[in-house]
Amino acid sequence: MGDLTMSKVMPGPWPQPQSTMLTTLWLLLSFALPVLGFYVSVRCPHGKQCQRALLSNNDIFLHCNSSGAQWHYFFLQDGTNWYSHPRSVSNIERMPEGSILIKNPLPSQTGIYNCRDKNGLQVVQYEIEFQDVSTLHITHRGLGQKPLRNETLSLGGKEIIFTHWEPWQDCNRCGKPGERKRLGYCHIQEPLEEPLPCWLYLGDARLWSSRMRPEMQVEACNVQCKTSEGAHITFDNFELSEESESAWLTCPLGSIYRPVIWEANNTPLTWQGQLSGQDVSTILDPSNGGRRLQVFQPAIYRCFVQQELVARFNPRPSPDVLEILQKEEVGQQPEAGQARKGKADTVLKGLQLMLLVGTFLGLLGVLLKLFRPSQSKRRNQTLLVK
Ligand SMILES: *[C@@H]1O[C@H](CO)[C@@H](O)[C@H](O)[C@H]1NC(C)=O
Ligand SMILES: *[C@@H]1O[C@H](CO)[C@@H](O)[C@H](O)[C@H]1NC(C)=O
Repeated sequence: MGDLTMSKVMPGPWPQPQSTMLTTLWLLLSFALPVLGFYVSVRCPHGKQCQRALLSNNDIFLHCNSSGAQWHYFFLQDGTNWYSHPRSVSNIERMPEGSILIKNPLPSQTGIYNCRDKNGLQVVQYEIEFQDVSTLHITHRGLGQKPLRNETLSLGGKEIIFTHWEPWQDCNRCGKPGERKRLGYCHIQEPLEEPLPCWLYLGDARLWSSRMRPEMQVEACNVQCKTSEGAHITFDNFELSEESESAWLTCPLGSIYRPVIWEANNTPLTWQGQLSGQDVSTILDPSNGGRRLQVFQPAIYRCFVQQELVARFNPRPSPDVLEILQKEEVGQQPEAGQARKGKADTVLKGLQLMLLVGTFLGLLGVLLKLFRPSQSKRRNQTLLVK
């Protein structure tokens, strides 16, 4: 791709690299575990420019391997202004190693993210397009639903609007039937040219078509379990709001970019159930790939990310619920529970959490029981309470 395309895409001021060639490279979507949590991250090789379509409303971590990193942003919609960190962009956080975390990015934050070292030399530059997740088109193969078809952009008639699909994510469960999803991003292709994400292609041309939407496709899967590296487990309580008679639960390490699944009383909550209207007892929030769940019953909900249990939500103890929990406790070993309690208490205090120690003990017991058969594989398992 030459600078011709570049000037069409971005007519505004452009941070000129030494070479005017726009190197569009593949990017790695990987997972990082910085201090604050577990984020999906985008990397670009040192000294390069990388282009990538992503979804709005889903946190993303942009890497820049430079200790004195200086970031500058150019948002396509604004046209002329460059923003430098830390002023003016409230949802972008600097991470200690020089990278940035963009929380709940907006479609209007589509643009250029430029990172320079302390001497002003470019380390990496990202062109990121945040496609509007509120327009996500979701289809399930098992229900015979079809993804969007290719269309031509009315402009000159030769440009095709199509969905560029990412690889399928892993199955969200193992050893039993699960589901997997893949994300697809709106792209536009001219004959003999490389396709570009739709809004980067259009630049400031105010053109819109109802075909310009990101997609998510779901299908059934069934895979064998592999040995795991251990999980971070969060415990939390919830209470149904009196007004809506529901509660929203958030799976802590979940993301639309990763396989997530919820279970209620050991029954999986599937996209198939939701999209077919069969399962109306809970609602998976599509805008974050089911990371958030709306519940209407005071049951126990668990969520798994990358096939690992990461969180368990209990209804805030009322007399009936305590009874259920007590039933579940039967069979636990008190000494093991005691030993873990001391350790966990410190964590709890440090993180200033409101957690009922009584139920906590019970939960640990259940957890130990659940995990005992595979404990040797999970030596790195840590307890992380939010
Ligand atoms: C980061 O940069 C340092 C020094 O420039 C280099 O040694 C290191 O390998 C880089 N790390 C990554 C992950 O690229
Ligand atoms: C849609 O367009 C893309 C890009 O030109 C092409 O790769 C794909 O095969 C097309 N799909 C169909 C069903 O025609």
